[in-house]
Amino acid sequence: MSTTLTLNPNLATLAKRGLQILAIGAIGLLAACGKKEAPPAAPVAASAPAPAPAKVYVVGTDAAYAPFESQNEKAEIVGFTVDMLTAVAKAGGFEIKFVNTPWEGIFNALAQGDRDMLASSITITDERKQTMDFSQPYFDAAQLIAVKETSKVAKFADLKKLKVGVQTGTTGDEAVTKLLGKTSTNIKRFESTPLALKELEAGGVDAVVADNGVVVHYVANNPGGKFKTVSDAEFTPEQYGFAVKKGNAELLAKIDAGIAKVKADGSYATIYAKYFGAAPAAAPAAPAPAASK
Ligand code: ARG
Repeated sequence: MSTTLTLNPNLATLAKRGLQILAIGAIGLLAACGKKEAPPAAPVAASAPAPAPAKVYVVGTDAAYAPFESQNEKAEIVGFTVDMLTAVAKAGGFEIKFVNTPWEGIFNALAQGDRDMLASSITITDERKQTMDFSQPYFDAAQLIAVKETSKVAKFADLKKLKVGVQTGTTGDEAVTKLLGKTSTNIKRFESTPLALKELEAGGVDAVVADNGVVVHYVANNPGGKFKTVSDAEFTPEQYGFAVKKGNAELLAKIDAGIAKVKADGSYATIYAKYFGAAPAAAPAAPAPAASK
């Protein structure tokens, strides 16, 4: 009986010590866990604050528009517009990323904020200015007619009774709609300009009306198509601009600053010559005259 009594204090001590060890262990574990969960305050405080990543502006372009914007074998978007805007962005101090965007949804993509800007050989028009803002003009253009070599078409008015292919919603579409009438079934609308030109080759349309630079490039690169071009002074002079969402004055200012720099330092003329053979007589500098409508 007494043994039990004498042993008890020892056991109690052992038990106490055991609990103490367990408790210390538990505290240690808790401390370790606590350390893991706590944010590593020291290293962050010690290092320099990370610079905010530069904003990369997403640029929408319908890359079926050589030599302005098209895709090469590696599916990279290339062309005059790409070289031009890349130089403008560098000069203006901003970063860009081109994203192929179908023409038919391109203005909507800008309005919705899916694209920060558009660089797609877009003609500055009064109508478009209602829903988006344009940079200073960077390229002069006009409509040009493509027909088969054997065609009798000599001027725009000659298309009045013919089947004419256009890219939907372009200034070419507008011009042809004006000439043939809104309800004309002779206007064949295509989702891209090359598709309209293919249809001309196939004989499905008698003519195509589109931007001169693209028509000239297509005709030169498709000798098998046996095309010729017909120009007409009746076509309204057009100017291309980069478009931003209405009210995006911050980005617009950067773009315009970049355009002014590349025109002044000669890089615009170099890029122009790379694609069009000769430097422009004078780079467009004045605000675009209202094209069409
Ligand atoms: N300049 C014409 C317009 O603004 C045609 C532009 C088409 N551009 C393109 N990448 N498909 O209507």
